Parts: sequence; C-alpha cells; structure tokens
Amino acid sequence: MAVSLGLEDVFIKYTGLTFIDGNEGILRYRGYDINDLVEHTSFEEVCYLMIYGELPKAQELDTFKKAIKEHYALPDHVFELIRDLPRDLDTLTMMETAYASLSSGDYKWEKENDRKQVPVILGENIGIISNIYRHKMGKELKNPDPKYDYAEAFLRNCFDKADPVRINAMNSALVIYVDHEVPASTTAALVASSTLSDMYSCITAAIAALKGPLHGGAAEAAYKQLLDIKTVDNVQTWFDNNIKGGNKRLMGFGHRVYKTYDPRMKIFKRIAESMGKTEEQKNLFEIAKKLEDLGVKEFGSKGIYPNTDYYSGIVFNEIGFPIYMFTTLFGFSRVLGWLAHITEYVEEEERLIRPRAIYTGPGKRDFVKISER
Ligand code: ACO
Repeated sequence: MAVSLGLEDVFIKYTGLTFIDGNEGILRYRGYDINDLVEHTSFEEVCYLMIYGELPKAQELDTFKKAIKEHYALPDHVFELIRDLPRDLDTLTMMETAYASLSSGDYKWEKENDRKQVPVILGENIGIISNIYRHKMGKELKNPDPKYDYAEAFLRNCFDKADPVRINAMNSALVIYVDHEVPASTTAALVASSTLSDMYSCITAAIAALKGPLHGGAAEAAYKQLLDIKTVDNVQTWFDNNIKGGNKRLMGFGHRVYKTYDPRMKIFKRIAESMGKTEEQKNLFEIAKKLEDLGVKEFGSKGIYPNTDYYSGIVFNEIGFPIYMFTTLFGFSRVLGWLAHITEYVEEEERLIRPRAIYTGPGKRDFVKISER
C-alpha cells in the first residue's frame, strides 16, 4: 500500500472536456486548441461547447445567450447579502458567501435540469462578481445590463463603461481560465458533487480550494513579486536574494502537469504587452520578462516554467482591476469548468469519492478517565 501525496498521478475521472499535454504545452477544450478558441470565440460559445459538446450554430448561441441574460439580475437576498458584508473582507470569501446563499438545498441531479441550470448560474455569476467589485469600491450595487454580452456586460457593471480592447482582453481571460482538467478546486467540486450535493454548494467548495496561493492565489502573488522588485535593474539582485538560495518560490512558476511553457501564459504575455500603455504598466512588463528569463534559466531543466498566473495579473491590472480581484476573476471564469466537470461526473460516472488513509497513530490503548490523567 502506498499513499500518493497530493494525489499525484491519480486519475479520478474520465473526461471529454479538457486535454492537457504537459510536456508539449498543449491545452484543448473538447479537441479545440486554446489559441484558436481565444482568437475566434466568445466566452458564451466556449460555455456552450463545454456543456453541450459542440460549438453552437448562430441560432443556438443566440438562444443560449438569451438564457444567460435572463439571469443577469440577482435575487434580492444576494444583493442585500453582498451589501451587508464588511468591505475589507477578501473578494473570494464574498464570492463563497454569495454562492452558498444561492443553494436551495433541494436540487435534484437530472441531465435535462442540470443543463438548464448552467445558464442560470452563469447569469448570476456576472451579478455576483461585478457587485463584489462595486461593493469593495463603495459603489452602489446594480444589475448587469442584458443589452450586452458576457465580457462587456461584466466590465460595464464593474466600471460603468467598457472599450473594445478591454472587452477583448476580458473575453480572452474568461476563455483561458474556463477549465484545466482536475486541479484542486475542480477536485473539491467533484468531491462535493459525488455526494450529490447541489451545484451551488459544489461551487462553494471549489472556491475554498481556489483561494490558496499554490492554486488561484498565484496571480496575485506573482504580481506582488513584480511590484516588490520595482525596477528592471533590480531583477537580478532580487532574484539572487530571494529565489536563488531557495528562500522563496518563484510565484507564477511551476505546475503539477506542465513541464514546459504553459500555453495560456503565452497568450496572457501577448495581451499584457499589447495593452500596456502607462510607464508603470510597461515597467512591470519589462520586469516580468527579465524575471521570466532568469527563472527559466534557473529552473527550466527541472521542468519548472512560467504558468498561466505569471502574466495574468498584469492583464487584469491593465483592464482596470485591483490586485484583490485577481483570484476572484479566475474563479469568475472557472465556475463554468466546475459546472462542466460536476455535470459530466454525476451524469456519466457518479460514484461517491471516498478515499482511504493509512493509519500511522498509536496501537490500542487503555482508556484513562479524566480524573486519572
Ligand atoms: N519556484 C521554485 N521552486 C519550485 C517552484 C517554484 N515556483 N515550483 C516547484 N519548485 C521546486 C520545489 O521546490 C521542489 O524542489 P525539490 O524537489 O528540490 O524539493 C520541486 O520543484 C517540486 O515541487 P513540488 O511543490 O513538489 O511540485 P508540485 O507539482 O506540487 O508543484 C506547484 C506545483 C504547487 C504549482 C509549484 O510549482 C508552486 O508552488 N508554484 C508556485 C505557485 C504557483 O505559481 N501556483 C500556480 C499554479 S497554476 C494554477 O493554479 C492556475
């Protein structure tokens, strides 16, 4: 008997959703390369692809978008709940709370119903995340405008305006983060779904796992690293002092599956470079590039390369978001991946996920009453 710590190399489900080749740096959703999807599709098309298995025809996409837009308006209690949360709470905790509050507790898994529930949750998702941002900023909460498609409606509800460059970048980020097979957050959602818990509770479980700096929190940590370095001239010294001796991990580097460049990172890098307009943005990008070179030189031979979170913080900042939103923006998109995986699991291979642990504690002991201890 052997324990696979971190469930490394353990396969927990079959999937038709996402294919990763970690040695070649390939990522495909239902057979389509991530680069093609980012270049040619909207987030809604990718959602449809993940849930129904095929890219939608124009009419199908239109119907799907309408179904999502019908749910842009949040239930009143979620509005009130977000409004009442302390403003200094972290945004993922707010997201968890909002999702937990939507659980009706009596959801029944059924293929037809599950598919209908997806656009409902995607619609609510926009209202939740944009209003978390509005609340943090001290703005009055409001519902997204169903005149607009997903990325645009989201940005307009956050910033009260949007332009094509930012909408395009937001759409790309949404597509990039949709799914990545079974990382910790998706596994947490699967564990919850395997008990036939409801979809909202499964999402809440996933958010809890997404939070940590070894998973979703890495974008924030990677970006803070760049701020800490401050100037391009300081990169080498910072690297030597902090990373070389093994004091700290280089955040935004390394991946359990990729042993080469993460293809998502390359897309974020391109967007970060093209969107950077201010001196500060250009400076951060240059720091990131130099740090990337040093990191690859140091760790590349061990299969440790920059991952998706390395440049995503720069992009989120260029779109206009503060650091505290980065991980929540990851979750904003990944909700779809969680939904796709849990519906696939429950409908096709449902079995309670219940692993074992090898006991290493003491053998049988005689009980000692509290008065005699
Ligand atoms: N910087 C320096 N060394 C690293 C890094 C890193 N970023 N990542 C891994 N290593 C080293 C470890 O120190 C260890 O070295 P050793 O064998 O000499 O002790 C070796 O590589 C293996 O590391 P593990 O943590 O066991 O490998 P694992 O597969 O669990 O690592 C992980 C994956 C957790 C992502 C890791 O690379 C890491 O901590 N990276 C930084 C955080 C990060 O960027 N996370 C985002 C991941 S992508 C995502 O969630 C979207």
